[in-house]
Amino acid sequence: MLSVAATRHPGPRPGPELGLVPRPDSVTVQPGRFALDHRTGLRAGPGAQTAAALLRELLTPATGLPLPPDSAGPITFLLAPGEEALGAEGYALTVRPEAVLLVAARPDGLLRGVQTLRQLLPPEALAAAAGGAQPRTPAAGWSMPCVRITDRPRFAWRGAMLDVARHFQPVTYLRRFVDLLALHKLNVLHLHLTDDQGWRMPIAAYPRLTGIGGRRTESAGDGIPHQGAYTRAELTGLLAYAARRGVSVVPEIEMPGHARAALAAYPRLGNRPGVRLEPWTRWGVCENVLGVHDGVLDFCRAVLDEVADVFPGPYVHVGGDECPRTEWERSPAARARIAAEALSGPAALHGWFLGEISAHLARLGRRPLGWTDTGDELPPAFTALAWRDAEHGRAAALRGHDVIMAPYRSTYLDYPQSADPAEPRGQDGVLDLRGAYENEPAPAHWEPEAARRVLGTQAQLWTEYARTPAELEYLAFPRLCALADTAWSTHRDWPDFRRRLDHHRTRLAALGVRGRSPQSPLLTP
Ligand code: ACM
Repeated sequence: MLSVAATRHPGPRPGPELGLVPRPDSVTVQPGRFALDHRTGLRAGPGAQTAAALLRELLTPATGLPLPPDSAGPITFLLAPGEEALGAEGYALTVRPEAVLLVAARPDGLLRGVQTLRQLLPPEALAAAAGGAQPRTPAAGWSMPCVRITDRPRFAWRGAMLDVARHFQPVTYLRRFVDLLALHKLNVLHLHLTDDQGWRMPIAAYPRLTGIGGRRTESAGDGIPHQGAYTRAELTGLLAYAARRGVSVVPEIEMPGHARAALAAYPRLGNRPGVRLEPWTRWGVCENVLGVHDGVLDFCRAVLDEVADVFPGPYVHVGGDECPRTEWERSPAARARIAAEALSGPAALHGWFLGEISAHLARLGRRPLGWTDTGDELPPAFTALAWRDAEHGRAAALRGHDVIMAPYRSTYLDYPQSADPAEPRGQDGVLDLRGAYENEPAPAHWEPEAARRVLGTQAQLWTEYARTPAELEYLAFPRLCALADTAWSTHRDWPDFRRRLDHHRTRLAALGVRGRSPQSPLLTP
């Protein structure tokens, strides 16, 4: 009954008339169009209801089309577990003038196919989804071109990290951000919830973490106080919202460095008894880090217990990067720990600390995720986020870590997008669109055993200088489209990407995303 040709060979180029982002594996455009009206029914086979509900949730506000359940279709969503070639997230989509058939082996594949269906419709179909505006029917009505698409991702981990510690974003914005990820078939939102500058995760056992650690007096000399924290209910609601879109949310709680907001809330967690600190007002690497006495480990375990209670996913990110040893070198408690654990010196405390945390996460049934500064410092159970050079990712992979590639030169979206001095302030340097597109998560010259360890790649949005959703979206787009393409597609073709992006920009515009555009490169207020 179902004939699904899930080839991994790129088919004819998806022409500019489709402009699909990310690029599907194989697309054939056929004559004719499929038109939708208010009677068009949607048949969801067993296990396909979530995807049908998502299509309605996304399309009905934008188009006014109710897509009523109808056992006769003409739109049909089917789960076909036998179609193993489609993998966990692949799908096959056939649009003919009289019917639409979406097939996947797993529910997530149907969710990815729903996003392709959205992109095949006129851009107005995306307009009200995020903005709440009234449906506006395009002059030619609601229709899509006839196509045959078979598609599946290159990498299982396709993500974006959002730093809500330096500048808090309300959960309403996080939902929009999840929608934008899902549109691009990105499947991980990594929430950077704590840092020197702020603590956003509510922990019932330690209320001062958000009460005191959630406020700072200014940022980078701007003189503007800043604060914010999530409630547990907000986070739980966000997780459900993201799950309906096939996006998992990974929490990050930074330790033992990048923890000054926690030290401000609970000075006893530090290395210098009697010293009171405030959440940091600057950007960089802060010398103040967590102590290594028993009370600190008890604190970290209690925090992670609550984090694991809220976030159901397998991964918990515990930071691990940029931890200066200066305070440990001077601390009698750190010296006592070095002696008790027979460690070689203060530098070895870092691995020891993360090892204790890793053991606790294992007891909770979770997997530790950490930034790697050097490729060789994380305990064995860690999955490594390689943020410095790609070669650090290779080194970590060769040591047996699973690796997610996040090299700053091609995935840090807080770098300006051009050298124009009028670009919004960012880190020193430039990451232009082409640089983002040239991110190669598993370079061809790597050993096969290293390349096999690459789970995928993700973008990083650090926010010391980006305060508002508009500023975030200017930084994210269109570079996040490039990252989505490099994470999803095996095919590399810069001119083809540029053509598809030209079309895709009309969708971003319909969604109210004001990214950087070639015509008007700078953020307008
Ligand atoms: C990092 O940029 N320190 C992960």
